[in-house]
Amino acid sequence: MSKFTSYRCSLCKTKYQPGQVTYTCPQDGGNLDVLLDYDGIREKYEPEDITSRADASLWKYAPLLPVSEIPGGGTPLHAAGWTPVFKMPLLADKLGLQQLWLKDESRNPTASFKDRASAIVVARAREIKAEVVVTASTGNAGAALAGMAAAVGQKAVIFAPKSAPPAKVAQLLVFGAKVMLVDGTYDDAFDLTIKASQEFGWYCRNTGYNPFTAEGKKTAAFEIWEFMQDVLGNTPFTVFVSVGDGNIISGIHKGFKDLLELGWIESMPRIIGVQAKGSAAIANALHAGTEEIVPVSARTLADSISVDLPRDGVRAVRAARDTGGTYITVSDDEILSAIAELGKVGVFAEPAGATSYAGLVKAAASGVVRSDEPVLVLNTGSGLKDVKAAMQAVIEAPVIEPTLEAVKKLL
Ligand SMILES: Cc1ncc(COP(=O)(O)O)c(C=O)c1O
Ligand SMILES: [Zn+2]
Repeated sequence: MSKFTSYRCSLCKTKYQPGQVTYTCPQDGGNLDVLLDYDGIREKYEPEDITSRADASLWKYAPLLPVSEIPGGGTPLHAAGWTPVFKMPLLADKLGLQQLWLKDESRNPTASFKDRASAIVVARAREIKAEVVVTASTGNAGAALAGMAAAVGQKAVIFAPKSAPPAKVAQLLVFGAKVMLVDGTYDDAFDLTIKASQEFGWYCRNTGYNPFTAEGKKTAAFEIWEFMQDVLGNTPFTVFVSVGDGNIISGIHKGFKDLLELGWIESMPRIIGVQAKGSAAIANALHAGTEEIVPVSARTLADSISVDLPRDGVRAVRAARDTGGTYITVSDDEILSAIAELGKVGVFAEPAGATSYAGLVKAAASGVVRSDEPVLVLNTGSGLKDVKAAMQAVIEAPVIEPTLEAVKKLL
């Protein structure tokens, strides 16, 4: 029997059989949780059976995933995940924290966290024999889909806002996807993608719409669990994550919920979401004590998290609320400072990638995290994705004559 048993609507809790629905709840549009045969997994595996698997990718956790690995290994599809976790003593000192780690998702094959989701969705697309996979994207999800699809010869179509950073658009094109730049926002691209997928019968990967994206993203939770078990045992810790549509944070929450359901962890880590002030619909909902997501008119230089209506907002509120976490909002200036601070310790993050760290800076200063609380912060995307933003975070290098006098003058 497959490990994937059913979907359950996150709003009305109705269960659906795997073949019965594809995207969201037909009754209320709620995001669908993918449910696994937890009893079967528990009977078959001990945690060590998983952690001792040799695979240095997210496929290490294949027994806990609802899709099968596409045979043939060795492609970028198989290289997603298993990103490094670095100890950050210099930043910890600066923030007055005793223990701080950074998990660097820019090391994924297409340089962002989104590879996790796309690897799983492409595997699902192969299982259901989809001819074309389509997604709306601010850039990273599209690059990830284009790259993962290219790796296995799957056709991909990407709708991105025409304002997407050029490096991200270049990735889409180089990976050979059919790219359409939409004269509108990410939200416009999102709606168009759903219409196009209905019209042309394409399989839609949209974040916060396709239930399998969160299943890919939950693998980061498995990796964090495995790492923290080694260094901390069962000591509680806190995870900081940047939030746009809310699918990364809800995917990470789902990963820890799976582990709790299996009885492999005793408690959840605290999950703290960080949004840009100009794109904070989920933070607004959490702080208003509601799950009702009121759209905003998004404005932030962190393009990857610039979202009017977060598509996984309800589950994203719960990820923080139900784990004793919270939401923090940061200004664009604070995001730029975070890029510079991370750069000074050797980590190059795009604006959305550095947003989580910007939130941690605030949380440490305001006492939202205690000094003895172990913290792991995620960098979700590479600074090479958005060089223009990176240059706003630093002072430009001077151009000089090729003489020692010129050097001396500057020193
Ligand atoms: C680099 C980066 N960080 C964070 C996010 C936020 O993820 P989500 O939209 O699932 O909240 C994204 C989404 O595109 C991203 O590309
Ligand atoms: Zn429902």
